[in-house]
Amino acid sequence: MRWRKELYSDKVIEHFMCPQNVGSMPDADSEGTVGDPNCGDCLTIYIKVLDDVIIEISFLVFGCTASIATSSMTTVLAKGKSLEAALGITEQDIIDALGGLPMAKQHCSNLGVGALRKAIHNYRQTLGISNDHKALTD
Ligand code: FES
Repeated sequence: MRWRKELYSDKVIEHFMCPQNVGSMPDADSEGTVGDPNCGDCLTIYIKVLDDVIIEISFLVFGCTASIATSSMTTVLAKGKSLEAALGITEQDIIDALGGLPMAKQHCSNLGVGALRKAIHNYRQTLGISNDHKALTD
């Protein structure tokens, strides 16, 4: 366990050991999946939306320690937010909320932001709402 303490913050270890909002959501309003072609990690985020607010969110990830922790933190940050506010969550927001990530692991936060934005875009698409105001992976 010592190597983890040296590499990762307490918050990362907490979200890796006890990730929040884990699981698929069969009755989700939308979902978004992204993968990192370099490492093969893959994340799906599920959302339920009411009055433009994310009222339920969950995830399934196949990936590294940091991808589990960042996926968990992504859902914590997005839950209860309006779709617009959730689209504004950045990789840096996730890294900051986790108390930092080692430089070599910072890219792992891309999965959470990418999957969340994709889920929101897919949701809006089913409603016929334009998604042109925010790129999927900026
Ligand atoms: Fe692939 Fe972390 S190493 S997301």
